[in-house]
Amino acid sequence: MAVSQSIVHVISHLDRDYLRQALERDVRTGLTASPKWLPPKWFYDAAGSDLFSRITRLPEYYPTRRELAILRARAADLAAASRADTLVELGSGTSEKTELLLEALAAAGTLRTYTPVDVDAVTLEAAARRLAGRFAGLEVQAVCADFERHLGLLPRTGRRMVAFLGGTIGNLDPAARRVFLKEVRATLRRGDTFLLGADLVKDTGRLVAAYDDAAGVTAAFNRNVLRVINRELRADFEPEAFEHVALYDERHDWIEMRLRAARDMRVRIEDLGMAVDFAEGEEMRTEISAKFRPEGLRQELVAAGFQVRRGYTDLAGDFTLVLAQA
Ligand SMILES: C[S@@+](CC[C@H](N)C(=O)[O-])C[C@H]1O[C@@H](n2cnc3c(N)ncnc32)[C@H](O)[C@@H]1O
Repeated sequence: MAVSQSIVHVISHLDRDYLRQALERDVRTGLTASPKWLPPKWFYDAAGSDLFSRITRLPEYYPTRRELAILRARAADLAAASRADTLVELGSGTSEKTELLLEALAAAGTLRTYTPVDVDAVTLEAAARRLAGRFAGLEVQAVCADFERHLGLLPRTGRRMVAFLGGTIGNLDPAARRVFLKEVRATLRRGDTFLLGADLVKDTGRLVAAYDDAAGVTAAFNRNVLRVINRELRADFEPEAFEHVALYDERHDWIEMRLRAARDMRVRIEDLGMAVDFAEGEEMRTEISAKFRPEGLRQELVAAGFQVRRGYTDLAGDFTLVLAQA
């Protein structure tokens, strides 16, 4: 029996100049602000993606297991409801959970194309090749891009399901989230769907533990942003001189990850010609991870112009997967 070949294309909208300028802009803006902050996308070089994969397997980090459980139970229903032939995944990372969606779309007989989208080119390409090897005849069009800037450049053919899994939506603050959801909606045609995975509000102790594991993997992930800046902008951060902090902000319903300076220090960032002073105990925000209530999430999707078709939670009520339609 002839097995049809899969095809892999890799397109990049993030050439070195673009990445460099974006990193320079973000570091200059964030480290001259008060309080200081850095955007989470700079965690994810190959080492950062690898640390994130380790986080997903930690006993404290429930979101991946919960989302996986929902996908196991509901992928066939999602495939039938969407009738998608093209799966576009934003912030796809290693695409491990995505296999369940691809299997369900293949079993429904509609699957043709998978378009993973991520800022980390190394992890993106490895995932693209792995999945092309796993699904005969699948066309994989991997796109290295920033989902906050390049949604308009993503392929627009086919009946699409855009998936945004892992609770990554929570890394956007409410204003950025409003813009992002409207932009996703604007890229979709009538009948296309948006599959959104989001972490739910729950007991604070469990939330904090998920971002401050006993083995210190999340701490290493948090400090990785300093390693990226050291390498890319010739800075002299001492990552070990910053403590990992995870706290839950009940007013905003989000986890904040911060890096706290263990002592007074001056950090030089050679390529920006700047020096940044940290006082002992000063905290710099590196990530927010918003937690949602199902009704609030539904309202945000409706406000962006979606109709909510399905909303599932796992048995423990920890995580939700919502299928919305354009
Ligand atoms: C929290 S991880 C989730 C990975 C995977 N979707 C999952 O559910 O396990 C976030 C992923 O989004 C990617 N990412 C973060 N910011 C991004 C951006 N602005 N544009 C594109 N990808 C981004 C990271 O490289 C990483 O792979």
